[in-house]
Amino acid sequence: MNLLVVGGGGREHAIIKKLKENPAVETIYALPGNGGIAQDAVCVPEIGARDIRAIVDFAKSHAIDFAVVAPDDPLALGCVDALHEAGIPCFGPDAKAARIEASKVFSKNLMKKYGIPTAAYEVFDDPAKALSYLEGASFPIVIKADGLALGKGVLIPQSLEEARAAVKTIMEDRAFGDSGREIVIEEFLTGPEVSVLAFTDGITLRPMVSSMDHKRAGDGDTGLNTGGMGTVAPNPYYTAQMAQLCMDTIFLPTLSAMRAEGCPFKGCLYFGLMLTPGGPRVIEYNCRFGDPETQVVLPLLKTDLLSVMQAVENETLAELEPAWSDGAAACVILASGGYPTHYETGKVMTLPAAFPENVTCYHAGDRLENGQLVTSGGRVAGISATAPTLREALQDAYAAAEAVDFEGKYLRHDIGQRALRALEER
Ligand code: AMP
Ligand code: GLY
Repeated sequence: MNLLVVGGGGREHAIIKKLKENPAVETIYALPGNGGIAQDAVCVPEIGARDIRAIVDFAKSHAIDFAVVAPDDPLALGCVDALHEAGIPCFGPDAKAARIEASKVFSKNLMKKYGIPTAAYEVFDDPAKALSYLEGASFPIVIKADGLALGKGVLIPQSLEEARAAVKTIMEDRAFGDSGREIVIEEFLTGPEVSVLAFTDGITLRPMVSSMDHKRAGDGDTGLNTGGMGTVAPNPYYTAQMAQLCMDTIFLPTLSAMRAEGCPFKGCLYFGLMLTPGGPRVIEYNCRFGDPETQVVLPLLKTDLLSVMQAVENETLAELEPAWSDGAAACVILASGGYPTHYETGKVMTLPAAFPENVTCYHAGDRLENGQLVTSGGRVAGISATAPTLREALQDAYAAAEAVDFEGKYLRHDIGQRALRALEER
């Protein structure tokens, strides 16, 4: 079989490595892929992940049997719709279903209409009305741009003054572009955060192992929000009892809400949850695998990934129960110094000839230049390790992270520490 994966980051590398385990897979094409992915797939750097026309033409001319669309942009732009029109089976939601991530107004209204627990909120398209609402609000409060903003369109002002500035930044200065035409202002919630990714064919939902992201740039959860600086799985706060509660009050109600709205969701649905004192609440939905959650979740999947994805596409997921390893996984992101704001690229990378068997380097932002890997992005690579316990997985991931080098390499040193403390307190 010939497969095509749209995207070119660490998440896509993890998907490709897992798909490759199926012996029926001959060639995997990555559009665009990256320097490190080129070891595992045929990369096509000329075709970007948003270039829907070129992706479909490529799939038709390369006899693609199955496609996986991983990033949010092409999903929101209708890449899956276009591939289906061309008769190519694929994994991912269509554009209508992708609105669950692409529009916060859509997802918040969906949750309100169907009684799915989330933070209380108001929607504004007029900055003056937003400002007068804020006059009577309590702080901190959460202000979100409506559309996709690379995980950066969320501001948490601590005072009325900061809130006024946030409205200006999003709605008037358009710091996140047209994403800021409408905003959601919502209640500030507290509690541990859990990421739950789930395979779903629209009716059946198979949750993956839970995980914990570390979104802030600095140790101790300080500094700016990033795309994610590291992950661990499973998430110790997410007990079996909590999983059942989330299934009953959040996951299945979300699936039936999407069906009732005429946009059944097929693909990987990501639930960003906060376990508040009042129970679990949805912080956000993503219409795709998380990055870097995928780099700790898929290494623990024991079932063939292609079979699960095909069951989603064929709507036969009820017949398949994916199996998961009992162990733990940890991923440490190696970033370019200065990420997420100003950073340099083009630095030569040095990697060990081989990693230990339980360790994988997922390449995120690098490219090949004269046969040599050089950095090309903010997040450069994710070093993942699996082990029987989280402590061992973290030790192995950090040891291997030392062995990868490039000028300005930056990493957080406390990935998984909160999870280890939670395990000790259990
Ligand atoms: P989002 O992009 O919606 O996941 O938001 C990014 C981050 O902002 C989340 O991971 C939370 O840490 C934080 N956040 C978002 N919404 C809320 C909320 N209602 N209360 C507290 N923190 C929030
Ligand atoms: N790691 C969070 C995300 O993928 O949105």
